Amino acid sequence: MDMDSASERLNGRGPCMRPKSSRTSESFKRVGILVLAVVLTLACLVAIGFLVKIYLEHHYLFCKQPLKLVPLKQVCDGQLDCLQGEDEANCPQWVPEGPPAGDRSILQVLQSHTQTWSCVCHDHFTPALARAACEQMGYSSTPAFQGVEASAGQPLPPREVVLSNGSLQVLEPGSPAAIEAWPWQVSLQYRREHICGGSIIGPGWVLTAAHCFTNNPIIQSWRVKAGSDLLSGAATIAVEKVFLAEVTPASPKDNDIALVKLRSPVRDSDSTKPICLPYFDEELVPGTPLWVIGWGYTEEHGKLSERLQQAEVELIDKRSCNLAAYHGDVTDRMLCAGLPQGGVDTCQGDSGGPLLYSGGHWQVVGIVSWGQGCGTPSTPGVYTSVRAYLDWISAVRRSEL
Ligand code: ARG
Repeated sequence: MDMDSASERLNGRGPCMRPKSSRTSESFKRVGILVLAVVLTLACLVAIGFLVKIYLEHHYLFCKQPLKLVPLKQVCDGQLDCLQGEDEANCPQWVPEGPPAGDRSILQVLQSHTQTWSCVCHDHFTPALARAACEQMGYSSTPAFQGVEASAGQPLPPREVVLSNGSLQVLEPGSPAAIEAWPWQVSLQYRREHICGGSIIGPGWVLTAAHCFTNNPIIQSWRVKAGSDLLSGAATIAVEKVFLAEVTPASPKDNDIALVKLRSPVRDSDSTKPICLPYFDEELVPGTPLWVIGWGYTEEHGKLSERLQQAEVELIDKRSCNLAAYHGDVTDRMLCAGLPQGGVDTCQGDSGGPLLYSGGHWQVVGIVSWGQGCGTPSTPGVYTSVRAYLDWISAVRRSEL
């Protein structure tokens, strides 16, 4: 009984408590939702206000007098839109260029592909090059420059630059080449001095340019160095005969082709191999990629390269080659090759070497012959067209059978 009443009391207290607590939690919930809604609405309003502020700040300036929004276009345009001039205050100022900052600076270039710095200092720098250099750095005034002695004590290697479409371009002479990649390439040396390049076209035959022999007529003094990408050292082969295509005084640049017959034939190996002549009926179209190789100057007034160099150029159509630079000197028996913007070219010492076309197999389509300067824009290298002399080559080789 006692137990029952106690449990009744306990039970009786329970049902009394429950409605009370659910009522308070419900009102709590209601208040909570209300507060949440208010907070969310406020947050939304703040966010919208913020966005509107950003938008207005991006497009307008706030004028206090008269109270208005001035489009940013009208800010700093030289015309007052706000009475107190807020729209024309704090504007960028035009500052005239001051006196030169000093004369001890050295113009340097970063070559993007090699990530190396060099100094742009070379003989024959021109006011036009100086001006272009300044403009590229954002300077607009006409610069003054003077020659300085720059041989010793320069921390960086010098580089020659050319002007192309208003901007300076570093003359990129090419990249080192392995003889195994161009095993027909030889160096023609007169009294142990490299004069010209040449190509092995048969076991005892080297194709080269006729002008290599102009001031070097003594056959016994000529040697041919094959199978090496370095100029110095290694054995050389004696020359037996030299055949030149007839040169007409009227057009001295024509017929710049020669065949050298060696005293002993070169044997085929990984580093010595003949190259094919071009097909008589295949005319290459302008823009065809071609390669040039040689030990010639790596810049216009430079020096020979101890290491064989290779560079890619392209066939340039004869008409534009003649029009742009050579006034009709480029004949039907010559080819122009280079890059329209310049920068890659053959140079002194490359003469006689091949202009190469990789049409299924490597062919010597041209012989380095002449050009104005080296690598300057619109004065590409000019090459003897080997295709135009196939009959002459056959005739010479037949005569020696
Ligand atoms: N005549 C030069 C020589 O004897 C070759 C000149 C080539 N010039 C040129 N710009 N591609 O080596």
